Amino acid sequence: MKAYRASILHFPDPALPRAALEADGLLVVGPDARGRQVVQALGPYAELASRFAGVPTEHFPGRIIAPGFVDLHLHFPQVDVIGSPAEGLLPWLENYTFPQEKRFSAHGHSAQVATFFIAELLRNGVTTALAFASSHPESVDALFAEAQKNNLRLIAGKVLMDQHAPDGVRDETQQSLLDTEALIRRWHGVDRLGYAITPRFVPSCSAAQLRGAGELAAKYPDVWIQSHVAENKDEVAWVKGLYPEARSYLSVYEQFGLMRPRAIYAHCIHFDDEDRALMRSTGAAAAVSPTSNLFLGSGFFDYAGADRVGFDYGLASDVGGGTSFSPFHTMLAAYYVGREGQTKTGVSLSPQHLWWQHTGGAAQALGLGGVVGNVLPGCEADFVVLNPQATALLARRASQASSLDELLFSMIVLGDDRLVEKTVISQAGGAGLLK
Ligand code: GUN
Ligand code: ZN
Repeated sequence: MKAYRASILHFPDPALPRAALEADGLLVVGPDARGRQVVQALGPYAELASRFAGVPTEHFPGRIIAPGFVDLHLHFPQVDVIGSPAEGLLPWLENYTFPQEKRFSAHGHSAQVATFFIAELLRNGVTTALAFASSHPESVDALFAEAQKNNLRLIAGKVLMDQHAPDGVRDETQQSLLDTEALIRRWHGVDRLGYAITPRFVPSCSAAQLRGAGELAAKYPDVWIQSHVAENKDEVAWVKGLYPEARSYLSVYEQFGLMRPRAIYAHCIHFDDEDRALMRSTGAAAAVSPTSNLFLGSGFFDYAGADRVGFDYGLASDVGGGTSFSPFHTMLAAYYVGREGQTKTGVSLSPQHLWWQHTGGAAQALGLGGVVGNVLPGCEADFVVLNPQATALLARRASQASSLDELLFSMIVLGDDRLVEKTVISQAGGAGLLK
């Protein structure tokens, strides 16, 4: 067992976006019956100290312990695509993304980028991620191997893309499905790893490939599904041309059996209420990717619409359409997107809600509520130690915060990787400090 003393940010009701701060708290972690490091106790230091007097305690004065962040959608082979300007999604894919992803056929390149990618997630305080690899199965192996080495909770999959893509990234229908099943068997449920069936998006997958993906999703119900939907108007028009009979872009995924709990769709911008109702009724969730949507000029996620109809969503960096690995940058961009909607609906996103979207809410969207994204007893012991004095400006602003919302807002607006002093990952044999 090990204990940590600091201010502790948590979500007292795991299903609600309301945060609380234990000003002088104690977080006790230790193994559960299966040997996983989980939170054993959380509360005021004054109340818990005597009960855990014999437990080695690390004290972080002036620091905030908070749940590790959950990134609901990003691309491992797009580390070197960040900041590539394009008129919109489709030319960006063709001119920057596919050429970079071709490089992941080489094991050496995949392994080298995987090391960087996982380290960058941890440096930024991300302790659970749902990621696309490239279309090469070797890239999935390299990514999972690196995550396993760090005991990171990573869900990932080989991209399926058998049409409308150049040589070097385009795969072959039957082989791509065989490869997917082999990867599920090799990696899903191993240590903290999970597999996601990963059709890139409707235009890049033949009907046979989408059908095969849906069959695998039915055969392996606890495997995740990840894809993109309704991100960009040209993309939506393209899908309309490919499936003129379909009610909407989203309904194509439903037609192929790709909508169910544990299915995460990135973007979900150009939706109507029937699409929103389909998300809700199937239990699928949205990965809201605001830095990507602003950078590529894709549009604005409609928070009021999502809440009115009621489907799950959480935040995502969408690196490399997204511009940063930092959850603080993503939360700030989400705030801007919420403001855009506010002019129409009066809805604005509170700091607690933004933070929830990148922790407990994102975990809930993955079907991992109460497992990650919070630090209540029973949760896996993944957390960050934040230093609100990390920069001079943040120190000034944070020290004048007179409420929890003001404190959280100061970190969302002024924070980046410098704010993350330590990232602690649940270990099989004792929580390990990784930064
Ligand atoms: N749609 C299909 N592929 C991609 C991708 O790699 N990034 C984004 N943002 N959208 C996509
Ligand atoms: Zn994406």
